[in-house]
Amino acid sequence: MAGVSDIGFREIASIFGADITWSEMLSCRAMLHNPKKTEFMTICSPKEKIKIGQIFGHEPEVMAESLANPLLAHYDIIDINMGCPAPKIVKNGEGSALMKNLSLASKIISACAKATDRPLSVKFRLGFDRDISTEFGKMCEESGASFITLHARTTAMGYSGKAGLEAIAKLKANVNIPVIGNGDVVDNASYQAMKATGVDGIMIGRGAMGRPWIFDELKGKQPPKDKFKVVCQHVETLRKYYEEKWLTLYLRKHFLWYVSGLPCASETRLALATSPSIENSLEILKSILD
Ligand SMILES: Cc1cc2nc3c(=O)[nH]c(=O)nc-3n(C[C@H](O)[C@H](O)[C@H](O)COP(=O)(O)O)c2cc1C
Repeated sequence: MAGVSDIGFREIASIFGADITWSEMLSCRAMLHNPKKTEFMTICSPKEKIKIGQIFGHEPEVMAESLANPLLAHYDIIDINMGCPAPKIVKNGEGSALMKNLSLASKIISACAKATDRPLSVKFRLGFDRDISTEFGKMCEESGASFITLHARTTAMGYSGKAGLEAIAKLKANVNIPVIGNGDVVDNASYQAMKATGVDGIMIGRGAMGRPWIFDELKGKQPPKDKFKVVCQHVETLRKYYEEKWLTLYLRKHFLWYVSGLPCASETRLALATSPSIENSLEILKSILD
């Protein structure tokens, strides 16, 4: 997840049961012209098990060429983002805009599949403004995708409404490649509902924000007793790579997610949202999480 699944977050998620971790979405053009920015986003932890690098773009040749970039060398699998609804991505004909252009989407998948020996997957939504997920999934399979991930909302829905599990079940029944189901898995009930679609794997996004131990929890394990220690580990890992000034601002959102749902005063949340230093934030978090 862009702006969320940093190396510290992916490391903790892996320690607490995530079997596969995805990079933030990586621009194929940026990899060519401004590799420094992408470099930070592609650092992985030895704790990660199966590592997926997710790319986005709209030019088949540029995207295929990017797969040879050394920045992507350590990923086990390459995923193509065809589901991002962000206007700045869509206006370039990238992300979920490709769900309106199946012939270009197919060219991108074929070109990338030819350019790598690694498994290639595609992540997409139901469609741009209507459900074409089965047709799109079949196109991915025919174009050379090894597996697919469906976030069962349209682009028009953004993050509103509910993920349509029946569309995931229909897709699974109509393709011969593995399907990963995605959308609204946050607890055991939603996990079981997603499992009942027959999918081969389940992706969790927002449910892991502030709760990266959700993977173990869903596998029947207890969450960590010392959650403050987990937060400290997240911070320490990031401190190895990022400047303190940038990190102070970046971590504020993660800190707020760590206390989301916990009984704490709105002044405390405001203090975390405006905290001048990581040490100050950690003091506040210690008092809440302990
Ligand atoms: C802040 C944020 C950033 C995201 N970034 C990406 C991304 O870079 N690539 C991607 O495929 N999906 C991205 N997503 C979408 C999620 O991967 C997921 O498909 C969506 O949130 C639905 O799953 P969930 O209900 O488990 O969160 C992002 C979602 C959020 C909330």
